[in-house]
Amino acid sequence: MQKMISQQGQRYQFDVLVIGSGIAGLSYILELVKLHPEVRIALLSKGPLNQSNSYYAQGGIAAAMPDDVSQHISDTMAAGDGLCNLQAVTAILEQGSASIDYLSEQGVFFDRDENNTLLRGIEAGHAIRRIYRVGDQTGAAIINALLLQVKQLPQVTLFECHSAINLITQIESHQPAQFPEVIGAYVLGEQLGLIHTFLANAVILATGGAGKVYRYTSNPNVATGDGVAMAYRAGARVGGLEFYQFHPTLFYHPKINNFLISEALRGEGAYLRSPETGERFMKKYAPQKMELATRDVVARAIFTEIEQSHYDYVYLDIRHLDKTFLQNRFPMIYRTLLEVGLDISCDMIPVVPAAHYMGGGVLTDVSGKTDLTRLFVIGETAFTGFHGANRLASNSLLEGTVMGRRAAESSLAIIKAPLTLQRSISDWDSTSVVDLRRASQLSVHWRGLRGEMSSYAGIVRTEAGLRDQLKLVLTRRDMIEEYYWKYVVTRDLIELRNIILIAELIVRSALNRCESRGGHYREDFKNKLTHAQESIVRANEFSRMGMP
Ligand code: FAD
Ligand code: SIN
Repeated sequence: MQKMISQQGQRYQFDVLVIGSGIAGLSYILELVKLHPEVRIALLSKGPLNQSNSYYAQGGIAAAMPDDVSQHISDTMAAGDGLCNLQAVTAILEQGSASIDYLSEQGVFFDRDENNTLLRGIEAGHAIRRIYRVGDQTGAAIINALLLQVKQLPQVTLFECHSAINLITQIESHQPAQFPEVIGAYVLGEQLGLIHTFLANAVILATGGAGKVYRYTSNPNVATGDGVAMAYRAGARVGGLEFYQFHPTLFYHPKINNFLISEALRGEGAYLRSPETGERFMKKYAPQKMELATRDVVARAIFTEIEQSHYDYVYLDIRHLDKTFLQNRFPMIYRTLLEVGLDISCDMIPVVPAAHYMGGGVLTDVSGKTDLTRLFVIGETAFTGFHGANRLASNSLLEGTVMGRRAAESSLAIIKAPLTLQRSISDWDSTSVVDLRRASQLSVHWRGLRGEMSSYAGIVRTEAGLRDQLKLVLTRRDMIEEYYWKYVVTRDLIELRNIILIAELIVRSALNRCESRGGHYREDFKNKLTHAQESIVRANEFSRMGMP
C-alpha cells in the first residue's frame, strides 16, 4: 500500500526574502536595514547559517588602495582573458579600500603587524600584495562578524535549514510573458518536511556556487547551484557557465573532504612537485611564473601530471619555510593536517585540483538587477562579467560585499512598491506524491553525475566527451524530473534536480565555446578566437540552436 503524503506548510509574507547567508546576503541585509529601518526581512539558509562558501574562504579579500586601483583592474582583466566587463570591474574594484574599512567597522579584525599596519598577502595573478586576511580563516572571521550584527536586527526573521525550491512568478499585464515578475518562493523546512509559501516584494538570490557538480570540490555541501537553477527555470538569462574555476590545491585524503589548501601557501613560496620524480614540474608549463601562474594554468598542469603518472595527486611542498612562521601564518591548515598525521613543516601535502568557483551565473548588473522584476541576484550566483573567463584570486569576497550593498540601494524602490497579486497563489500541492524514494536511488545519481562531469566536462574538454556527457545528463535529468513530480520532496532531491540542470548548462555552454579561453580548455580547439564573445542564454535557447 503506497503512503500518500501532504507536505503543505504555512504561508509567510515579508517585504524581502533573502535566500543565502554568505557574505553577499548578509552585506545586503545590513545595508538595507540602514536605508530602510522599517523593512521586514526573511533570511533563509539551506543548512546552519554559517554553512557557505564565504565561511570557508581562506586566502583573504583583495582590495586596492586608491593608488593601486588601475593596476588591480589590469590584473583582473588579464586573468579574465578578454571577457571581463570593464564597467563591472571598475565599479567593484573602486570599492576595495572602502570595503576593508566597512568590514572592519562591522567587527572584522584583519591581521596587522607589530606597528599596527594592515598586512597584505599575494596570490597568483596579483602584481602586488593587496590581499587582506585574518590568518587562514578570513571567511569565518567575516561571516562571524556579519552574522553577529544580523542576528541582533529585529527586522530579520531567520529560517535556518530551509531550502528554497522554486521561485513563484506572475505575469504583469503590461509585461511580455517571458519576463515574469518574481513574487516569492516555495521553501522546504527540513525539520518537518513541510513546504511553505513565502511571498515578498523583492527576492534576493545569494545562494553561492555549485561545486558539487564535480567529483572534487572545495565547496561545502550546500553549493548545488540552486539560485541559478531557480532563476533559469523562472526565465532569467544566465551566462558564462562554461567557466567553472578549478582551484589547483585541494587536500587529497580519504578522511577529509572539501578541504582547501590556500593559494596563499604558493604566495608565500610553496612548490609543486611530482610525486614520481620530485621535480618542480611547473617549470615545464609556466617557466616564468612557476607556481604563481594563473589558476587555470596551474590546475591544468596538475591535471596533466596526474594523467601521465601512476599517482592520483601531486605534492605541495612548503617544508623550506620556518615551522613557527607556518604555524602563525596558516594556523588552521597546519592544525587540520596535523590531526591526520601530516606536519607541513616536514611533510609534503598531497593535492588535487577541485571545482572551486562558479564563473558564470544569472545575468545581472553590479547592483544585482536581473531580467525579472523584483528578482535580484548577488555574489557568486550572479554573472556581471566581473571575472570574465577566469576569476582573479580573492576577488569574490570583495564582489560579494560590494554587490550586496549596492543591491540594497537598487532594490529599495521596488521593496516600497506594493505587490499586486494577479491571481491567487496556491500553496504547495502534494496530495498525489508518494514516499517511495530510496536514498540509494539518489546517491547513485549523485556519484554518477559528479564523476562523469569531472571526466567529460572538467579541466580538459573535447567535443566527443561533451556530447557523450550531454546524453548522460539528459537521461539523468528525465529520471530525476520524474522523481520530483512523483515522490516526496526532500533537500537531497531538490539539490540533485538543480545540480543536473547546472551540469546541463555547463556542458551545453562548453560545447558552444569552440576555443580555449581562461578556465575553459578544449583539447580540440586549443587556440583562442580573435574575437572574445560572451555566452548568454535563456531557457530553451539551446534547443533553438539545434542541440537536443
Ligand atoms: P555563499 O557564501 O556560498 O552563500 C550561499 C548561501 O546560500 C548559504 O547560506 C547557503 O545555505 C544558501 N543557499 C544555497 N542554496 C539555498 C537554497 N536553495 N535555499 C536556501 N538557502 C540556500 N574568495 C575570496 O575572495 N577569497 C578567498 O580567500 C576565498 N577562499 C575560498 C575558499 C573556499 C574553500 C571556497 C569554497 C571559496 C573561497 N572563495 C574565496 C570564494 C568565495 O568564498 C565565494 O565566492 C563567496 O564567498 C560567495 O559568497 P556568496 O555570498 O555569494 O555565497
Ligand atoms: C585560496 O585561499 O586559495 C582561495 C582564494 C580564492 O579562491 O579567491
